[in-house]
This record gives sequence, structure tokens and C-alpha cells, in this order.
Amino acid sequence: MTHNILVLPGDGIGPEIVTEAEKVLQAADVKFNLGLNITSALVGGSAIDVTGGPLPEATLDAAKAADAILLGAVGGPKWDGLDMAIRPEKGLLGLRSNLKLFGNLRPAILYPQLADASSLKPEIVSGLDILIVRELTGGIYFGQPRGIRVLDNGERQGYNTYIYAESEIRRIGKVAFEAARARGGKLCSVDKANVLEVTVLWREIMDEMATDYPDVELSHMYVDNAAMQLVRAPKQFDVMVTGNMFGDILSDAAAMLTGSIGMLPSASLDEAGKGMYEPCHGSAPDIAGQGKANPLATILSAAMMLRYTLNEGAAADAIETAVSVVLDQGLRTADISANGMQTVDTKTMGDAVVSALVNG
Ligand code: IPM
Ligand code: MG
Repeated sequence: MTHNILVLPGDGIGPEIVTEAEKVLQAADVKFNLGLNITSALVGGSAIDVTGGPLPEATLDAAKAADAILLGAVGGPKWDGLDMAIRPEKGLLGLRSNLKLFGNLRPAILYPQLADASSLKPEIVSGLDILIVRELTGGIYFGQPRGIRVLDNGERQGYNTYIYAESEIRRIGKVAFEAARARGGKLCSVDKANVLEVTVLWREIMDEMATDYPDVELSHMYVDNAAMQLVRAPKQFDVMVTGNMFGDILSDAAAMLTGSIGMLPSASLDEAGKGMYEPCHGSAPDIAGQGKANPLATILSAAMMLRYTLNEGAAADAIETAVSVVLDQGLRTADISANGMQTVDTKTMGDAVVSALVNG
């Protein structure tokens, strides 16, 4: 059996980190006889430079045909001046919506080796294991109408629409309730139901669904409080479920609890479990091409891909163990180095994971 994987390196540090993740996948392929067939395509700014648009048709077709997708990151100052409709980010958003990847899983796990790298005290974050379930193809990111218009008085006005249909809330609710059931049995739904009607409906539907999951303890929290609780007492959370924009923000906050956003993988799944896997961090143009980027979030995203879409759980476990081994060995990229530990570059980190995997 062959697994067809499409890699989309993208922009900034994307190509560097994806190169390392590909090496790890190839090593896993040899060790576990996975039958991986890896091809690559352009997305984001690098696609704009070659084709004029951030999501060339060839890329979208290849993404549809692939069993799973591994993406680096998109965007950078070079393309910041472009019209919103053709910015690099539209490549990523277009993939998410065209492939109907509505279920975004963003696990924030603190590796015990990195407790000192967190900006929070070790006792606040040690043992942290949160899963943020973010709705990814709706909400204010995609709501119509949207735009910037000129009013009668000549003043410009920007507007977006925060909108969720009941079916969209239910399908992300299902992902979240089921994840909570398989983990610690606690689900916190995050909304702004004291102000926004769309999230009043969100809260009602989560309450309705809870009756089908008597084994899951559902709670609700306003997003401002959730942001505060994440940095005050993050271990109170097991699974959090929220809409597209709140999830974007809260997952960056959760990432920092784990020491660095350079550690956080993510999965974006459709109804059938097909997925696109990417690190939660961005393209970090300030350090691009310097070998400073942490490839671990992308490597861990590759592990999630093996587990969730390709059903190769043993290989996924082995990659995650290899990451833990290199952290035990004291290897640190700059973002996760603390207490004056010596840092290694992107390639050295990737090579170390490969050798831990091969020898594991
Ligand atoms: C993320 C990113 C994206 C998002 C950007 C790059 C469009 O921040 O995956 O969290 O906002 O969803
Ligand atoms: Mg984000």
C-alpha cells in the first residue's frame, strides 16, 4: 500500500523545517515500511512569485489527490503590500476551505525537559496537556459580506461577518466531544455569548450536544476569561473547543505555555479524516534561511499525520519518542534553550531526530 503525501514548504522558514520533517518521514518509511510517496508543490508567496497566485490550480489538484498534506508556513514582508485576495495567507485559507478541513486539532503538551523554557513557572505548566479544537473553515475568517467600502461621506469602513450555521457548530462539537471522551473527559467551550449572538447559538448547541455525551463534563467560558485562565492556571483545561478566530488567538497563547510555539504541531481534518498537517507557528521571516528555526513542530505534525490520517500509529509513536530522546540529550534550538544551554541549528536538530528514530 502506498501513502501519497504532498508537501507544501511555503515561505520563510517553511522550506527549512519541511526538509527536516521529510528526512524524518523517510527514515520512518524505511524503518516501518510505510510505502510513502512524497511529492511537493508551491503555495503562498513562493507560488505568487512563480505563478502570480498563492494557490495554483496544480497545487489544489495535487492536494485533493493526496492522502495527506504536510505544510510548512506561508507569508512574509515581501508580499505584505499585496491585495488581500492574493496574499500568501489566501493559499492556506483556500486549501483549508476547498478541502473542507474544518476540524483543527492543536495539542499543547509540555515536554518535561522544557519546563524551564516556558515563560511561566514550572509548577504552573509541568504536566500540561491541552487540546484546542478550533473550527477552521467558517466564522469571521470566511463570513460574507466582507470588505472595505467607502461610505457616502467619503470615509472608508472595513467590515467582516461573524457567522456560524448550526451544522457547522455541530460538526466541530462532535470532534471536540469525541476528543474529550477519548482523553480526560472535560470539554470547555469558549465563546463571547455575553455580546455576540453567533456565540449564543454556539453555546446552545454545545449544551444540546452534551446530553449525547453524559461521560463528558462540559463547561463554558468567555474568551477573555479563557485567555486569562490559560496563563493563570492552564492545567484546569483538558479539551477546549472554539471558533476560528478565538482558536487562532488562544492556540498561540497555549503554545507559549509549552516553552515555544516552535514545538506545536497541528492537524486539520475533514469529515473523513483526511488532513493537512502544519506547525502552529508562522513563517518567521526574520530568521528565515539562517538555520535557526525549530523543526520539531513540523516533525511532530508529520507524526500526527501518520497517526490520524495514515493509521500508522507505531511510526507516529516512534517519531514522538525520538523527539523526546533528542530533548533528553540536551539538544535545543534557540527558541527552546534556557539556562544558557548551547543551541543547535535546524539541520542538526533534524538529523538528531532521524538518528534517534533509526536507533530507537
Ligand atoms: C494559523 C495562522 C493562520 C490563521 C494564518 C497564517 C492565516 O495564524 O494557522 O494559526 O490565522 O489561521
Ligand atoms: Mg495563528
